[in-house]
Amino acid sequence: MAVPKNENCFKIRQATSDDVEEIWKIVKQEGWASCSFQVTRAVIEIAEDGWFVAEQDGEILGFVMGYNINETTSFPGFLIVKPEHRGKYIGKALLNEVGSYMGDRRISFVAILQVEPMYVKLGNTRSPRGGVNLYSLQLRNMPIPQEAKVDYELKDYIEVDWKDLLDYDTSFHIIPRERVLNVWFEIPESKTKVIQQNGKIVGYGTIKPVPSGHVIGPLYADTTAACMILLNYFATAIPANSKVLFTMPTASEDGKRLLEYNKDTLIVVWKGVFMEKKQAPSFSKLHKVVAIFDSAICFL
Ligand SMILES: CC(C)(COP(=O)(O)OP(=O)(O)OC[C@H]1O[C@@H](n2cnc3c(N)ncnc32)[C@H](O)[C@@H]1OP(=O)(O)O)[C@@H](O)C(=O)NCCC(=O)NCCS
Repeated sequence: MAVPKNENCFKIRQATSDDVEEIWKIVKQEGWASCSFQVTRAVIEIAEDGWFVAEQDGEILGFVMGYNINETTSFPGFLIVKPEHRGKYIGKALLNEVGSYMGDRRISFVAILQVEPMYVKLGNTRSPRGGVNLYSLQLRNMPIPQEAKVDYELKDYIEVDWKDLLDYDTSFHIIPRERVLNVWFEIPESKTKVIQQNGKIVGYGTIKPVPSGHVIGPLYADTTAACMILLNYFATAIPANSKVLFTMPTASEDGKRLLEYNKDTLIVVWKGVFMEKKQAPSFSKLHKVVAIFDSAICFL
C-alpha cells in the first residue's frame, strides 16, 4: 500500500520480489554477519506482504519486515535505513507502516542495545526473556558427557516424522510454525539435523553458510549430551577454522558451556535484548535454546 510523499520526499510502499537483491545489498553493507542472500530471500518469502521499503526517486533508502504469524502475534525485524539517510524519520515512518500492518497483535523481537532506546520511545518494553547476543567462535571444544555413550541417534530432518518434529519445535516456540520451518529447512546449502534418544526427539539444529562463515540457528536441545552431539556433527560438516555464529539467549545453559569451552576464539559481535509490545507467550524452555533462528526474524 503506497502512502503519500512526506516532506522529506520519500514514500513507503510494500516490497516486491524485485526488491530482494537491493534489500540484500543494504543488509550486506550494514554488515549483518549472520545473514546471507539466501536467508534474506527466505525471510521475504516467509513474511510475504509484510515487507515495506522507503523509496525516493527509485532508490530504496530503508526497509522493515513484519511477520504476522497468526491473528494474535507478529514478529517485526530487518529494520535498516541506509547510513546517509538516517535521522530523517525514515525509520519511524517504516515502523509506523509495519505497525499498522501488524495491527493489535502482540509483538516480539530482538533489539540491539544501541537501538533499544528508540524502541522504548515507541512504546515497547524489555521482555522477561532477558538478553540475547550474537557470538562468533570456532567450533573446537564440545565435550560430550560420559553418560551419553549410547541411546542417541542423529538423523537428517527428512528421516524423522514431520509431525514429531513440529511438535518438538512447538514445545519450545509455543506457536506452531510449520510454514516457517518448511521454508527455513529448504534454504539452499543448509543442513538440519535432528537428535533422538530412544526414538524420541530431544533436539534439532540447522547450519548454513553465510559470507563470514557459518551460522547455526535454531539449535534446541533438551540435554547437554544432545546439544554437544549436534555441535560435534556441525563441526565436521564445515571447513576447519570456519567462524560459526550463534544468536544466543543469555539464559542458555549449554550456550554458556559452549562459550566457556571455546573462549579462545570467542568474539561478541553485538549484545541485545528481547523486547515486546503486549506480553509475548511465556517461554519455559528458553534455557535449552542455544541459538534462535536469527535476531532479525526472531520467531520466538
Ligand atoms: C535504527 C535505525 C533504523 C533508525 O532509523 P532512522 O531513520 O535514523 O530513525 P528516525 O530518524 O526515524 O528516528 C526516530 C526516533 O528514534 C530515535 N532514534 C533513532 N535511532 C536511535 C538510536 N540508535 N538510539 C536511540 N534513539 C534513536 C530518533 O532520535 C527519533 O526520536 P524522536 O522521535 O524523539 O526525534 C537506523 O539507525 C539504522 O538503520 N541502524 C542500523 C540498523 C539497526 O541497528 N537496525 C535495528 C536493529 S534492532
